[in-house]
Amino acid sequence: MQQQIDKLKHEVSSFEISNNKELENFRLVFLSKKGKISLLFEYFKKLPPEEKKITGQEINTLKNLAADRFEKHKKLIEASLSSVTQKQSVDYTLPANFSELGSKHPITIVRNKILNIFNNMGFVVEVGPEIEDDWHNFTALNFPPDHPARDMQDTFFINKSPDIALRTHTSTVQVRVMESRQPPIRSVFPGRVYRHEAISSRSHCFFHQIEGLYIDADVSFADLKQTLLHFAHELFDSQTNIRLRPSFFPFTEPSAEMDISCNLCNGAGCAFCKYSGWVEILGCGMVDPNVLENCNISSEKYTGFAFGLGIERITNLLLSVKDLRTFSENDIRFLRQFKATY
Ligand code: PHE
Repeated sequence: MQQQIDKLKHEVSSFEISNNKELENFRLVFLSKKGKISLLFEYFKKLPPEEKKITGQEINTLKNLAADRFEKHKKLIEASLSSVTQKQSVDYTLPANFSELGSKHPITIVRNKILNIFNNMGFVVEVGPEIEDDWHNFTALNFPPDHPARDMQDTFFINKSPDIALRTHTSTVQVRVMESRQPPIRSVFPGRVYRHEAISSRSHCFFHQIEGLYIDADVSFADLKQTLLHFAHELFDSQTNIRLRPSFFPFTEPSAEMDISCNLCNGAGCAFCKYSGWVEILGCGMVDPNVLENCNISSEKYTGFAFGLGIERITNLLLSVKDLRTFSENDIRFLRQFKATY
């Protein structure tokens, strides 16, 4: 037995360990459950009691020797591996990785500019869902069930009865906000809207709008006009004129469309404004009392105005983008042009 222990001691100290594989081998040969040292313990059990004390101590010394060697080499291997990877991963002479800076989408640039102008006038930004029911898109907004105005909107329906559709305008958020709280309300609602239209340079099946709503006691058409005039001056310049033409929307009464003096020819007339000197930019009006009542707001106590504009249209004027399709094609050559804008 003693001879065997000595032999193993020698084996343990002369076993070659220089990498992980050899380390694992060492563990299997000496330290595992079926390893040589465990086997010694099996023999040990059969020894007469008087030999047990001495031999037990010897086997334990051997076991500690093996365990110490294992730990020592494990540490050595780890240290040498980490210094190798460190050496390989850092080369301070290499040029730095080039990371390209992104740019804001032109629609985002113009949306932020518009929202900023209204923020400065005390309007807060609120948003609503793009999938809507008939009530929020039409009925609450005073569209009678078979009114032809529903056709004006070319709706994408997701479900019929109950009618669920992609919202055709951001006026849906007007309704949601009015239903959720009482005036004063002074908010702007940016968002994407969808209409079933053929895609061309001038129309698309989705685009972006910003809707505005101001409801309080004694809000008048004069307030609407002054707000929009200030908006036009901030968005273009202080020389810009506005003109309101009578129009129709089911949810406003009276309704109007607003033109601005053409910002390309300053109103003199050019091909862009079709020689009229004016370009249309938004729809607006005084909120119809029926809409207020539909949303549980007293039309006796409160009045309000609303307006809605297409962000693409304004981008067209501010950044001279002519083709609506370019906004959603994600052509990097187009998007890069706006890197330096705002
Ligand atoms: N919702 C109208 C549209 O999409 C725009 C509008 C909003 C008109 C608010 C008047 C008042 O065309």
